[in-house]
Amino acid sequence: MFKSKITGLGYYVPENVVTNDDLSKLMDTSDAWIQERTGVKERRHIKKGDGNSTCIMAVKAARIALERAELTPDDIDMIVFATLSPDMFFPGGGVEVQEIMGMRTIPALDVRNQCSGFVYAISVADQFIKTGMHKNILVIGSENHSGGLDFTSRGRGVSVIFGDGAGAAVLSRNETGKGGILSTHLHSEGKHKKKLSLLGPSTGYWVPQIIKENPQVDIPYYPYMDGQFVFKHAIVRFSEVIQEGLEANDLSVDDIDMLIPHQANLRISQFIQKKFNLPDEKIYNNIQKFGNTTAASIPIALTEAWESGKIKEGDLVVLAAFGSGFTWGSVIIRW
Ligand code: ACO
Repeated sequence: MFKSKITGLGYYVPENVVTNDDLSKLMDTSDAWIQERTGVKERRHIKKGDGNSTCIMAVKAARIALERAELTPDDIDMIVFATLSPDMFFPGGGVEVQEIMGMRTIPALDVRNQCSGFVYAISVADQFIKTGMHKNILVIGSENHSGGLDFTSRGRGVSVIFGDGAGAAVLSRNETGKGGILSTHLHSEGKHKKKLSLLGPSTGYWVPQIIKENPQVDIPYYPYMDGQFVFKHAIVRFSEVIQEGLEANDLSVDDIDMLIPHQANLRISQFIQKKFNLPDEKIYNNIQKFGNTTAASIPIALTEAWESGKIKEGDLVVLAAFGSGFTWGSVIIRW
């Protein structure tokens, strides 16, 4: 059995900065409300004509990760691509990345696990490396939220939280014997699927039905979130799955050097930090400047934390996510 290790990291966000004041011009909201409830000060949105899309951002992040791993696209054996906002209904984004990057006819797998997408994708890639099936896997989380949000007052409870961006990691067979992924734990609970969802258009809720049921409104085209319900479940599941990962490795909260939580909401991160009694330097948050980028949030935050020297060789790094489904999971890494 082999072990895997992150050998390269990269992220990309569009240049277009959208502040809370910018959103206040579109809907009935305020900088004070958004900052107090979510922690977000600004986020990035794809701008018409800037050439970005979910897959283009993914490729930009992936190129950086590959360069840092000192690999070329030819060295990659598989793509695992996590997104809830693919460029097309089908096929998924993985094949677009394969094409744009000129890769061999390697497998390209799309993961549909929303905010837990990157943690699920890392876990899938880890299994393929453990068995010896593949040596280098490109794992990507990328989201274009701004293309599908309701920027009127009706959608303010959701649209102020989210931003666009992409993050990527290269997962390689660990040849050094030092460090690497120690464990991954994944969960789901589908009975809450509608609490954070986008109903249609989908094959279960197709365009004619949407129009028939909602002749005046287009609400099903936009994401729905029961914010307080999500909050209550998120804080429980985040805590459980971090503990589960630590216990599986005979570790405790005191062993954590860096916790990278999915950037759902600053108040959720602060709750976890307080519960585990973590000092500020042991948790990384950047939702303030990028908003919630769903599957991209962990790889963007992980890359930033690593780039700024906050993660060093030998550190115990914990990734944890919770999101729509509900789904949740953790990854324990010895860096
Ligand atoms: N600006 C101003 N007022 C707003 C806004 C806004 N952007 N959005 C909602 N409001 C209003 C509501 O209409 C409501 O008004 P009312 O009292 O007159 O009816 C009032 O603010 C309170 O609304 P709530 O939804 O009860 O606000 P809450 O305090 O719960 O905050 C929030 C909403 C931030 C979403 C909160 O529920 C939360 O933190 N939820 C956690 C879920 C989350 O963060 N999800 C992130 C994405 S999912 C994920 O990544 C896992």
